[in-house]
Amino acid sequence: MSSSDSVPFPIYLDNAASTPMLDEVMTEMLPYLKEHYGNPSSLHRFGRMTMRAIEKARTRVSSLIGCNRSEVIFTSGGTEANNLAIKGVADLVRKTNPEKKHIITSTMEHESILEAFRDLEGKGFEVEYLPVTKEAQIETTDLERILNDRTALVSIMFSNNEVGTIQRISELARVTHQKGGLFHTDAVQAVGKIRIDVKQLGVDLLSMSSHKINGPKGVGALYKREALKIAAIIHGGGQESTLRSGTENVHGIVGFGKACEIAAQRMGEYETKVSALRNHLIDRVLHEVPNSRLNCSTQNRIANIAHFTLFGVNGEDLIIKLDELGIAASTGSACSSRNQTSSHVLKAMGFSYAESTGSLRLSIGIMNTKVEIDQAVSILSKAVEELRKLSPFD
Ligand SMILES: Cc1ncc(COP(=O)(O)O)c(C=O)c1O
Repeated sequence: MSSSDSVPFPIYLDNAASTPMLDEVMTEMLPYLKEHYGNPSSLHRFGRMTMRAIEKARTRVSSLIGCNRSEVIFTSGGTEANNLAIKGVADLVRKTNPEKKHIITSTMEHESILEAFRDLEGKGFEVEYLPVTKEAQIETTDLERILNDRTALVSIMFSNNEVGTIQRISELARVTHQKGGLFHTDAVQAVGKIRIDVKQLGVDLLSMSSHKINGPKGVGALYKREALKIAAIIHGGGQESTLRSGTENVHGIVGFGKACEIAAQRMGEYETKVSALRNHLIDRVLHEVPNSRLNCSTQNRIANIAHFTLFGVNGEDLIIKLDELGIAASTGSACSSRNQTSSHVLKAMGFSYAESTGSLRLSIGIMNTKVEIDQAVSILSKAVEELRKLSPFD
């Protein structure tokens, strides 16, 4: 049997959208879907059992990012963590310091940030959007220029979900603090893939999501610095120190905790293996697919994402073709592909129509192998050749 015969199809190269759940994670979750069904708020043994499981998961999440257990608030995912951070600060500021109406984010954030900012803009906040360079970097000097005494919050993503670039978060947080603002980072694409210590970073709030690190969907967390007070956005029974009411997603939280524990243990392996696979993928694509370009340098980039422009090809046609041929890939973010809108991230980076039309994001996970990458590039190369023959573009 040749090596390519042993490739399991389909080949999944869309790990920035979501990741396969690890067996160890599933094994830990199963009892909480079956025999351990108590409500964590109940005083009896069933309740105590599930509450203990939540607290164990909280310890595991906190160890991954270097904070205290009490600084982790479980949510339904990255989207809710982002909304809680932004609206939670805004709500409190509105009541305690109403002149602090100025909030800042960037033009390349995830929709869960941009929509939360738009919502606040409609409620009287003054929103400013930082531009990004063609390399998807935010300049600290741009932030320094617009920060002022009325700035309540700055929210900048740690790593971009489409192109994978990493920002200088500690520097951005430091200048924000110098002007008396709070700093939040959406670290959904970074946690578990890169060493993060929230104390060293100096951020006040940081969002995480379980399904990006081989945990279950529908669960995530917000890190909130202990002394910082924010308002709840969901009201009810007062769970999660009153910041996130609602009976806890116990099995999800347990799975997320296990995924964090494994991510911490395998961080070195992840960084070495996944970045080696990604570099191999980049080399092969650039050599074997004519008229292809890697977007953004391999410096300041998360290990698992490679983003290309394949000139003369329509990205969506390519994704459909690749799917038929057994490769799961993406043009960019999973959310915008549903809406069929062109990527706001690439627009923010100043990409022309031709540069953004032929975009392809390949994102690698810990389950991928070199044989899969080799197979995927061969298939990609043929698919691009076929589509170019049919393409009206030059
Ligand atoms: C950068 C970023 N932020 C937030 C989210 C939303 O996370 P969740 O899917 O857990 O709501 C995603 C998911 O794609 C993301 O990539």
